[in-house]
Amino acid sequence: MENENKILELRRKREVATLGGGEKRIQDQHEKGKLTARERIKLLLDPDSFEEFDMFVTHNCTNFGMEKQKIAGDGVVTGCGTIEGRIVYVFSQDFTIFGGSLSKTYAEKICKVMDMAMKVGAPVIGLNDSGGARIQEGVDALAGYAEIFWRNVQASGVIPQISAILGPCAGGAVYSPAITDFIVMDKKNSYMFVTGPKVVKTVLNETVTTENLGGARVHASKSGVAQFMTENEEETINLIRKLITFLPLNNLEDPPRIACSDPIDRYDDVLNSLIPDNPNKPYDIFDVIKTIVDEGDFLEVSKAFAQNIVVGFARLNGHTIGIVANQPKVLAGVLDINASVKASRFVRFCDAFNIPLLVLEDVPGFLPGSNQEHNGIIRHGAKLLYAFAEATVPKITVILRKAYGGAYCVMNSRHMRADIVYCWPMAEIAVMGPQGAVEVVFRKDVKNAQNPTQMLKEKEEEYREKFANPYAAASNGYVDDIIEPGRTRFRLIRAFEMLATKKDTNPPRKHGNIPL
Ligand code: HXC
Repeated sequence: MENENKILELRRKREVATLGGGEKRIQDQHEKGKLTARERIKLLLDPDSFEEFDMFVTHNCTNFGMEKQKIAGDGVVTGCGTIEGRIVYVFSQDFTIFGGSLSKTYAEKICKVMDMAMKVGAPVIGLNDSGGARIQEGVDALAGYAEIFWRNVQASGVIPQISAILGPCAGGAVYSPAITDFIVMDKKNSYMFVTGPKVVKTVLNETVTTENLGGARVHASKSGVAQFMTENEEETINLIRKLITFLPLNNLEDPPRIACSDPIDRYDDVLNSLIPDNPNKPYDIFDVIKTIVDEGDFLEVSKAFAQNIVVGFARLNGHTIGIVANQPKVLAGVLDINASVKASRFVRFCDAFNIPLLVLEDVPGFLPGSNQEHNGIIRHGAKLLYAFAEATVPKITVILRKAYGGAYCVMNSRHMRADIVYCWPMAEIAVMGPQGAVEVVFRKDVKNAQNPTQMLKEKEEEYREKFANPYAAASNGYVDDIIEPGRTRFRLIRAFEMLATKKDTNPPRKHGNIPL
């Protein structure tokens, strides 16, 4: 064959491969409101930056007549490209080919990009849309999944791993996204479950829809499995692009700095009057977050789950920070099981990827009750303590109002090696709230008093004066300064800049034993 013909043949083969399962299946995909694997990659990456690998790979299964059905690419599109000019590796499952089901060779394609990403030090983004293990391949498909899981674990804490769920993700297949750092699900077409509605019906005689069992809403608000929920695929992909801009490409790099046009010494008067006079009245922590960070830009993580704690990424003077903040507007900002689990995973992500941590604290304590105790608030609350204690990135806490009891210790206190602790003048640092404290300490005096109500009031006032302010902690050096709320942005920027070259380590060990 002449050279020219060879080139024409290559072009033709590429064209065929690009069509995946063919026009009809692409049309079916579009009719479901879904994009194809290649359309998704095009949206995700910078224009013309995609380099595809293994376009001509086919499966080698001979069971059930599969040898007669070979399609170039075999159901997954893999390669690398850039987001805002920074390299990322991608795999995008192609539902138009055997329902995006995973074969041995398909798994090898994914493993190849994961291995390259590890060598290069770049994130892996997985766009999931698959019927699971390719049934005709039996154990070969299962082996393929396990190879991916193993790589997910090796890559954890080394390169960021992000999963978008854009269709089915069922059975053991859910465990690859589950190990990745972030899962994004769109409300329209995505679902994740270990066993589907049919099996649930057979085994438990329980009737449940796909959406109610494992749709985006369920995983974003109830199970906490998904960190982000979006309206559609385009939003999912834009969100991933935005998320990547906050992150370093690997654990040896610092997060990228972007130019900041928001004045660093902006004085925010509004914060001076934000805390209500009545300590039992709530306010919205987002008013604090959005006021202090650059341009009010905050990418909230796990927005719909455990809303009593808020976590997410923002920037101060162009540098990425991770924020963990109690939300007084929801359950008074109390720490419960879900809040502890949500925040501890976020803290560990930030620590793994050199993202400094800012804690905005207003916490009345841990949530009491049999439900919490029986479900292990001790074990789960300990995770948060553990996560803050082992984090070696720059750590700053601002106590806005309440810092009571064990929650004071846990929420990145000086004693957990916070580098800087600031308080607002409204801060109350104490073993417990005034009412509870007086009832314990002065129970007998109050009982014997001529006017118990009056005495309770007096003792509460005495207690408040002694402990419900930041000066006792400041006099012990447990807090570094009491700052004007309006000055918070500037003080934080200066403090993080001072800590930029911080180095700290934990003792050498195989790994710690976080109370999982
Ligand atoms: C082989 C599969 C497949 C699979 C789908 N297809 N799933 N082929 N192995 N796992 C094929 C279908 O036969 C069909 O081919 C095409 O993909 C499209 O599928 P449809 O059923 O027509 O699509 P739809 O109606 O949208 O339904 C999608 C679906 C359904 C809900 C995903 O296909 C389904 O239930 N598939 C099986 C899911 C499953 O049980 N997988 C195993 C999970 S256990 P044709 O040629 O007819 O168009 C698992 C274990 C992993 O994955 C373990 C890891 C440790």
